[in-house]
Amino acid sequence: MNAIDYANANHDVFLEQLKEYLRIPSISTLSERKDDVKRAAEWTAAQMRKLGMTHVEVFPTAGHPIVFGSWLGAAGAPTVLVYGHYDVQPTDPDNEWITPAFEPTVRDGKLYARGSVDDKGQVFVNLKALEALMKQYDGKLPFNVKMIVEGEEEVSSINLEGFINDHLDLLAADVSVISDTGMLSLEQPSIVYGLRGLTYMEIEVRGPYKDLHSGQFGGAVHNPAQALCEIIAALHRADGSIAVKGFYDKVRMLSGEERKALAEVSSVEEQEAKLREITQVPMSWGEGEYTINERTGARPTLEVNGLVSGFIGEGAKTVLPAKALAKVSCRLVPDQDPAEIYQLVKAHVASITPPTVTSEVRLLHTGDSAIVPIDAPAMAALVTAIEQGFGKKPVFMREGGSIPIVATFRKKLGTPVLLAGYGLPDDGAHGPNEKFDLQCLYKGINTAIVLYEELSRIPLAQFKA
Ligand code: BES
Ligand code: MN
Ligand code: MN
Repeated sequence: MNAIDYANANHDVFLEQLKEYLRIPSISTLSERKDDVKRAAEWTAAQMRKLGMTHVEVFPTAGHPIVFGSWLGAAGAPTVLVYGHYDVQPTDPDNEWITPAFEPTVRDGKLYARGSVDDKGQVFVNLKALEALMKQYDGKLPFNVKMIVEGEEEVSSINLEGFINDHLDLLAADVSVISDTGMLSLEQPSIVYGLRGLTYMEIEVRGPYKDLHSGQFGGAVHNPAQALCEIIAALHRADGSIAVKGFYDKVRMLSGEERKALAEVSSVEEQEAKLREITQVPMSWGEGEYTINERTGARPTLEVNGLVSGFIGEGAKTVLPAKALAKVSCRLVPDQDPAEIYQLVKAHVASITPPTVTSEVRLLHTGDSAIVPIDAPAMAALVTAIEQGFGKKPVFMREGGSIPIVATFRKKLGTPVLLAGYGLPDDGAHGPNEKFDLQCLYKGINTAIVLYEELSRIPLAQFKA
């Protein structure tokens, strides 16, 4: 049976299977979910075995397991390495979910659940495409496939780099496929060719050795919450740019050609309207001389992810807190070095901390940015596949999010990476009511089928990282 026909005939079966996957609360950052994370790993491995992969293994790590599966029966044909993650983000704020995060529900043709688009749904797309191709070729494939699905992507892939270093032969491949990004819309499919890097930090400001009565000491002791806000406010200039000394020194500027191509994707007005529609903010903010898509895709940022200090319980308490903490991260672009950015932020915060308090900047984790070449034969295969799967030629775009492993794959495994992502801008990853459009699911499976077939026809010598 033809793979596309098989996939199209099995929509209902696939949907029920994906719901099963999504019911497992595999939140990698919460230690009390460790067993659930493991169950999601086992579920992934079971799917690999069922579709006909011959070597399937769940590798324990110091954290959550890494699932590996392969089928290598196509001697002389290309080897495709597929990557995804089965772990998900926490579900808070829980009361904002229309239906509970781990009770997958279809409304209006969309499947709502934590992990639906990020990334179980997209891992599932690839599993089902491989299953369909196995049906077409009677338990064989016209290419070799290796699949690695990790459980720690949302906590910055803590153990994956070490695993890759220790398993270079196991993972050796000609091309990598990662389905963990999105496209512009169902009407205008797109391919992500750039992802930003990340430096994630904590800034702590300390004042008195313990919380004080604000009536007794307010006015004479610099309030750490206020001092932290003063420091944070001084990290940006009024024009939206970042005031950290040296921050932009290594930023690779967009070429005129690239700016032009990105501008053709959508107009300044369309970008503003889309932003307001999706986020419901009154208007956009940021560096005025760059378009919104440039600001989120090709410019670095500094964000406050969270702030805590003092009394936040019900009612009022007069207190001068002893300390204040902010979680601050920078999205980075080529050729900024995440470790160097940490040093710059640290030095800058030290230089602007008033003598009335002390401050400390701690590094939590980093990730490299990535730009993938758009003129490679493997990329042409993805263009063809999306054109067939979604009925329109895709445009190229940059994404603001980060998948640090893209850079690692190219560095360590030397494979070109294809970002074959099937999400949409309003899917709400990491937030309440995350969804995956069923059209993205089914068209994604058909696209992945064509992609694998196209890749299988590329001569080995034509894969270059
Ligand atoms: N799938 C996302 C990355 C992503 C987000 C790609 C938006 C395209 C658009 C991934 O699961 C993710 O959330 N990555 C983290 C980084 C990680 C180091 C915690 C991110 O971007 O914040
Ligand atoms: Mn993801
Ligand atoms: Mn994510």
